[in-house]
Amino acid sequence: MAYLNSHYLKLKAGYLFPEIGRRVKAFTDTHPEAAARLIRCGIGDVTEPLPAAVREAMHRAVDELGSSATFRGYGPEQGYEFLRRAIAENDYRSRGLEVADEEIFVSDGSKCDCGNILDIFGDANRIAVMDPVYPVYVDTNVMAGHTGEADESGLYSGLVYLPCNAANGFVPEIPKERVDLVYLCYPNNPTGATATRAQLTAWVEYALENDAVILFDAAYEAYIQDPSIPHSIYEIPGARRCAIEFRSFSKNGGFTGVRCAFTVVPKELTCLDNSGNRHALHPLWNRRFSTKFNGVGYVTQRAAEAVYSADGKAQVAELVAHYMGNAQVLREAAGECGLQTHGGTNAPYIWVRCPGHLSSWQMFDRMLEEAHVVITPGSGFGPAGEGFFRISAFNSRANVQEVAHRMKNICWTKE
Ligand code: MLT
Repeated sequence: MAYLNSHYLKLKAGYLFPEIGRRVKAFTDTHPEAAARLIRCGIGDVTEPLPAAVREAMHRAVDELGSSATFRGYGPEQGYEFLRRAIAENDYRSRGLEVADEEIFVSDGSKCDCGNILDIFGDANRIAVMDPVYPVYVDTNVMAGHTGEADESGLYSGLVYLPCNAANGFVPEIPKERVDLVYLCYPNNPTGATATRAQLTAWVEYALENDAVILFDAAYEAYIQDPSIPHSIYEIPGARRCAIEFRSFSKNGGFTGVRCAFTVVPKELTCLDNSGNRHALHPLWNRRFSTKFNGVGYVTQRAAEAVYSADGKAQVAELVAHYMGNAQVLREAAGECGLQTHGGTNAPYIWVRCPGHLSSWQMFDRMLEEAHVVITPGSGFGPAGEGFFRISAFNSRANVQEVAHRMKNICWTKE
């Protein structure tokens, strides 16, 4: 007899984005006339073409694979040296941050890394997540057996939820209790908030005092416009001893379909084993990588390297400016409708309060049925997201202007 992983049975409904897809399909199946008008501002998926520098690098890499003199089979599991160096040099060392090439682990996505990292942590950790939260952090802990059951509101026992709301600027207060692992995501998905240097410093100090590890998701760092906002947790003194950072090429280079990301595990970062002996995490993650992963494809890694070329940097800056322009159009449109907005100034997400007493899913239905626009219900990110919805700025300018126009045509006072 084979037994399943019964922790999966604790998971609530489907993963958020497939669930949205299911509801949208049910609507368009019964309203075929709406299908052609539908504009998707739900999942944060890029829409604009890959930068020319990236495409050219991919073509060159494909040609290399087409010749026996330059063909490559398995690469290093952790990533080719050319890419690890380009990342460490451009994202860290050129900004005065000490990160060695071998501390970079190239992967196929930050979502995967955020889930996989749990392999190297024990079961006894007290885990803190923000609420609202990117659902992957919670669901992967449920799958790993780190939680109990969820209650009616969707909160899992065993997790420490850190409320994020307008009053705290969507940056959680430092907990009074001890936690061992804490997920922080800045610029934040879903709220679009950023954390200041002082706020991140407080978290690093907390982690160092409590021997905790911060799992810092910086997938949206390219969208930071305010020069005072840190792009990396390693800008904070001491963070190399207490933080792992996740970064992605999805949202800057437009790699959501290409798939490439990386994780930084500093060599100084240590944890205790069950007997209280201290070990570095870097060799464990390296071991995990080389056992369960065979590396990202050569063509993709050359594509990622091209993001750091002079042309690549300029083209990525244009992409970011395009999406941030969209964010401004959407934020202003929501504001003109009398809706309270957050985010959208250093992140490609606008976090909007639902009007009246509408719940997040009621708002989702109204936007779908009346405007034929797909948004993401805030409650899908956790109970503290109830009463909010998220609009993604990843779209063409024409679509975003059309969304703005349709939003203004909805009668927001109707409930
Ligand atoms: C989102 O819409 O929250 C993101 O696209 C999810 C992701 O990047 O995996």
